[in-house]
Amino acid sequence: MPSTLLTNANVATLMGESGYGLMNESAILIESDTIKWVGSMSEARRFVDAEIIDCRGGLITPGLIDCHTHLVYGGDRADEFEQRLEGLSYSEIAERGGGIRSSVAATRQASQAELLQQAKPRLQQLLDEGVTTIEIKSGYGLDCENEIKMLRVASSLGDIHDLRVCKTFLGAHALPLEFANAADEYIDLVCSTMLPQAAAEGLVDAVDVFIETIAFDTMQARKIFDCASALGLPLKAHVEQLSNIGGTQLACEYNALSVDHIEYLRDDEVPELAETDTVAVLLPGAYYVLRETQLPPLESLRKHRVPIAIASDANPGSSPLHSILLTMNMACTLFGLTPAEALRGTTLNAAKALGLDDQIGSLEPGKQADLVIWDVHKPSMLVYQIGLNPCVAVMRAGRWRKPPVVGEA
Ligand code: NIG
Ligand code: FE
Repeated sequence: MPSTLLTNANVATLMGESGYGLMNESAILIESDTIKWVGSMSEARRFVDAEIIDCRGGLITPGLIDCHTHLVYGGDRADEFEQRLEGLSYSEIAERGGGIRSSVAATRQASQAELLQQAKPRLQQLLDEGVTTIEIKSGYGLDCENEIKMLRVASSLGDIHDLRVCKTFLGAHALPLEFANAADEYIDLVCSTMLPQAAAEGLVDAVDVFIETIAFDTMQARKIFDCASALGLPLKAHVEQLSNIGGTQLACEYNALSVDHIEYLRDDEVPELAETDTVAVLLPGAYYVLRETQLPPLESLRKHRVPIAIASDANPGSSPLHSILLTMNMACTLFGLTPAEALRGTTLNAAKALGLDDQIGSLEPGKQADLVIWDVHKPSMLVYQIGLNPCVAVMRAGRWRKPPVVGEA
């Protein structure tokens, strides 16, 4: 079987409980789509039959994982950006029928082909920065036909661009206009028809709910979680973004894959979170764009060893952010993560937030060969520089998506 040996690299394996798992002057052996071996240059000499790629002291990390996005949507919300700067809040805009509902109108109007065309440049930016796995949510269709349309687009982005797309059903993102004052009826429709149909088409890897004063309460979320659990689907939740109505506690009760946002999570709620397998997903883009001032309880998360992931939350409203490297920088400058925590947040812990940490997220034998070669010598360089993209080559499942230029790797 043909094998590839990446030599003379500083490898951020992400193995171990914390830090980068850095192995300087090391090599990685890849066979087919799998990492076979990681070790020192002196030991690597025995792999005489492998094709050798000399990384010349560059850095290798796992392929980056953006574990929370709303990348597929119609239109834009630049006007709301202006309105917020003129003094309206995100919640006020939503209450006046803007916000998510305005993206719902534009998404319903767009054809599948149009949604795909609009999503491509957003995705391209993430691909250029070494993203090999992305999660994409529905949630701007809010009826059966349009939620399925969004998920089909998400799925085809994966086929076209050679990356893994995890599709999350977010039918309970907002109350559609036609169900105004009938939230429970809408939840019944989600449970009886929308989610089962999307799942039957193989379009749902996980189910998410927006639990918030401007969205759905915990009773309604519980119905969705019960329905998803009956279908055998893992759960995620948007919680404690603008207020605290007990979303994290509910998600913990169901051992959700992740709780996302959590600026308003209280310190005294963190121990319960730590008892589950649930990952805390921090979204600094939304914090930044909404000019939020409430910080997520980072010290408590650390103290109780809750795994922390970070993601772009790419969406037209709260986080029109399409750079995973900038997301990592923001997590450090805005939330106080260390660069090592930021890299764990877009690799191993992001994989955990998607239930995929047995397959991807670190560079260790047996895992899928998703990796990036960077033209920097140490991992902190990825996080500290703003607006520079040192990505040299990207391998996805053992094949070069972006091959190294010989002599420049
Ligand atoms: O993660 N919080 C809810 N959902 C998105 C925002 C969606 C939107 O504003 O369109 C978020 O911030
Ligand atoms: Fe989100």
